[in-house]
Amino acid sequence: MKALVTGATGLIGQQLIAHLDEPVVVGRSLDRIRKLLGDVQAYPWPSPTTEPPPLEAFEDVDVIFHLAGEPIANGRWTRDKKIRIEKSRIEGTRNLIHAVRCVAKNPCSLISASAIGIYGSQGNNMLTETSAPRHDFLSDLCQKWETEARIANQYGIRVVTPRIGIVLDNRGGALKRMLLPFKLGLGGRLGSGSQWMSWIHIDDLVALLLHMATSDFEGPINAVSPQPVTNREFTQCLAKTLGRPAILPTPKFALQNLFGEFSSVLLNSQRVSSTLAENYGFRFQFDQLDNALNDLLLPKTTQ
Ligand SMILES: NC(=O)c1ccc[n+]([C@@H]2O[C@H](COP(=O)([O-])OP(=O)(O)OC[C@H]3O[C@@H](n4cnc5c(N)ncnc54)[C@H](OP(=O)(O)O)[C@@H]3O)[C@@H](O)[C@H]2O)c1
Repeated sequence: MKALVTGATGLIGQQLIAHLDEPVVVGRSLDRIRKLLGDVQAYPWPSPTTEPPPLEAFEDVDVIFHLAGEPIANGRWTRDKKIRIEKSRIEGTRNLIHAVRCVAKNPCSLISASAIGIYGSQGNNMLTETSAPRHDFLSDLCQKWETEARIANQYGIRVVTPRIGIVLDNRGGALKRMLLPFKLGLGGRLGSGSQWMSWIHIDDLVALLLHMATSDFEGPINAVSPQPVTNREFTQCLAKTLGRPAILPTPKFALQNLFGEFSSVLLNSQRVSSTLAENYGFRFQFDQLDNALNDLLLPKTTQ
């Protein structure tokens, strides 16, 4: 399977690339690609919002993994940041599909990232792929993003939009950012702690993306573990794994003052079901949070 990857230098892309036999990468900087991914076949896509990637990158490609997008969870959403978040996904996806239309032989499948942010905040409701979304910035963004990806259907391409949960990886993302305060004994629940967090271990996410690439599944699919937990439970489990206390809650108003609208990412409640992925034959290696955190955070010999 020859696979083209966008956003390959990111948290998920770097791990995915390591599992692909014949990866082709398009990205904004060849230097960065070389530095992070070594000697991979790579093509420049310097401005994803204004131009399609080079057509020669698509030669004999069977599947595209589309992961590129301005980072969402790295701080305050200023007006400019929100424009970058949206344009990089909507126009980036449009330009990618524009290239696909122009190549002689279409790839068969497009696996185009989406996020559980599509559901908005829905309390204790168990959310499946057919649940109606609630409206906020991320939800509207993800709906437009998925709609843009689905346009590839018109060119005979199978489209999968994995709605990715909170990816747990000790090399980056949400978990790495949480580690320092917890290690200092300054960790604690966020807001009331009753909001649901739907997480997935990076190894399971990569395996699920590969599973989707070789299956005949089409449409949105939740990429989350079978065991969502409340923020309170997550906090306790992380503190226990690290052997540190978690006694300093951060109140909702402090998060809102600190992060503005981005605080919704930390406070929204998303209890998301993995049933569809399991019904499609996917088996999770890490279905319990304590196992996932032990694997990521403890030295392998003491497990
Ligand atoms: N990590 C999570 O917890 C999570 C959860 C839900 C959904 N997702 C989604 O899954 C995708 C991959 O996630 P990730 O965590 O691997 O992301 P990431 O680490 O932030 O990397 C995304 C990649 O996108 C490219 N990129 C960055 N800014 C861009 C911009 N302004 N315009 C175009 N491309 C840009 C970069 O690749 P190049 O510089 O090589 O082009 C970057 O390495 C993202 O779309 C993300 O929203 C992630």
